[in-house]
Amino acid sequence: MKFSFAKPALPKAGTIVVTVLAERTLGRAARDLDQKTGGMLTRAMEASRFTGKKDETLAVLAPANLDAGRVLLLGLGKAEDIAPLALQSAGGTVVAALEKSGESEAHVFVELPQGSGIKPAEAAAEMAFGGRLRSYRFDKYRTKDKKDAKPSLKKVCLLTDEAEAAKRAFGKLDKVADGVLFARDLVSEPANVIYPETLADKCRELTALGLEVEVLDPKKLRKIGMNALLGVAQGSAHEPRVVIMRWNGAPDAQDKRPVAFIGKGVTFDSGGISIKPAAGMEEMKWDMAGSAVVIGTMMALAGRKAKVNAVGVVGLVENMPSGTAQRPGDIVASLSGQTIEIVNTDAEGRLVLADCLWYTQDLYKPRLMVDVATLTGAIIIALGHEHAGLFASDDALAEALTGAGKAVGEPLWRLPLADAYDKDINTDAADMKNTGGGRGAGSITAAQFLKRFVNDVPWAHLDIAGTAWSKKDTSTVPKGGTAFGVRLLDRFVADFHEG
Ligand code: BES
Ligand code: MN
Ligand code: ZN
Repeated sequence: MKFSFAKPALPKAGTIVVTVLAERTLGRAARDLDQKTGGMLTRAMEASRFTGKKDETLAVLAPANLDAGRVLLLGLGKAEDIAPLALQSAGGTVVAALEKSGESEAHVFVELPQGSGIKPAEAAAEMAFGGRLRSYRFDKYRTKDKKDAKPSLKKVCLLTDEAEAAKRAFGKLDKVADGVLFARDLVSEPANVIYPETLADKCRELTALGLEVEVLDPKKLRKIGMNALLGVAQGSAHEPRVVIMRWNGAPDAQDKRPVAFIGKGVTFDSGGISIKPAAGMEEMKWDMAGSAVVIGTMMALAGRKAKVNAVGVVGLVENMPSGTAQRPGDIVASLSGQTIEIVNTDAEGRLVLADCLWYTQDLYKPRLMVDVATLTGAIIIALGHEHAGLFASDDALAEALTGAGKAVGEPLWRLPLADAYDKDINTDAADMKNTGGGRGAGSITAAQFLKRFVNDVPWAHLDIAGTAWSKKDTSTVPKGGTAFGVRLLDRFVADFHEG
């Protein structure tokens, strides 16, 4: 789907989209059209329940005296609620309403109520951003779709006097959308297509954007001593990889230390010898969502040429049961030197992250580290699918991430870390075990485990097990892989670590 910007003019074809505020308050373009059509819009509203609430729509087909095939009334809700996120939502709503309507192009009159505090150019750009996010589809394996099941909408043009400025503002958002959509594709691909080697190849594609990409193969991983990660991988026919992506956008900064993002990339999590139940196991193809988020974030940063030094590290493995698989009871010496007793092979993500976190802080001396992982089912019990779990060793970092999440509509909820939970992973046989002792606080003990591998670097952990995949559409996120975290981390960099 193509998004463009132009000065307002009545289009000769396609759908005209005009905005309506709460209580059927027509915007200027809507009022003009209403007059032109002898009050057709007013009558259509009165004949329906449409009142102009946020993200409500009403289509009026073949309006009299117009070349356009239809007029879509788009509710914006109350004037005081109009903000960047609401405009993204409005853009997504337009796409959702027309995507399969048979319509191929839409022309949206972008109008803001008096005193909204948002520039028209910004509003148009946000609407296009939301539209593009919503237009995402993963249908490459559907060979039998009838033509009428495919999207018809091809073009969305945002109409504003500030068209040039809108285009410029959209430029950066468009790069963020590139990162989001790339990440969604990675998450959606099945595990017979995306496994460590092929996922590393996807990372290599990012060199075209100016990223430095280094791939560590098993030989190198053994040499380095990433035994915790290697232990998870050893049951699989697919060999592991660790990929390091570097973006040096602030070569002259005083503080050249990079921000570091670390992603869990378990391309399939069967549970290993501690095998998972069959029901729902197919979902574990998206157990690499954390790595996809890191890859998508690095893509966004490079794409929009962010003035930051950033490093992304992803640990890519497949967790499988086999004759060579790791056993419960095995003890591994992690890269940090600390030994780990594997009591449950399904608690594998923390083993992968442990070595990646240690490696990152040791080699890149980052100013901070944020890891992203579909780490625990327990976080779904605690927070459902609305917030991701946040754990942090540093309050300022926690606040910055929470703020960024709020700003982009990817909310985080902080959970505690404390020595009392840390004790829960002590064991007699080794320095620690890979799960907590009891049944409670599974997400926290997992975070405590990670904390043992971060040294003194300010660190945060995002548990996205509940938010990486969605079973329902929202205005900007169609169901499926969400890439939850890409917009958040991009915003976190923009607001706290650039310039
Ligand atoms: N990948 C899973 C966590 C997960 C569960 C992600 C549901 C998305 C949806 C993780 O590797 C896992 O299996 N965790 C175990 C930990 C337990 C064995 C301590 C869990 O949550 O059950
Ligand atoms: Mn697991
Ligand atoms: Zn897992």
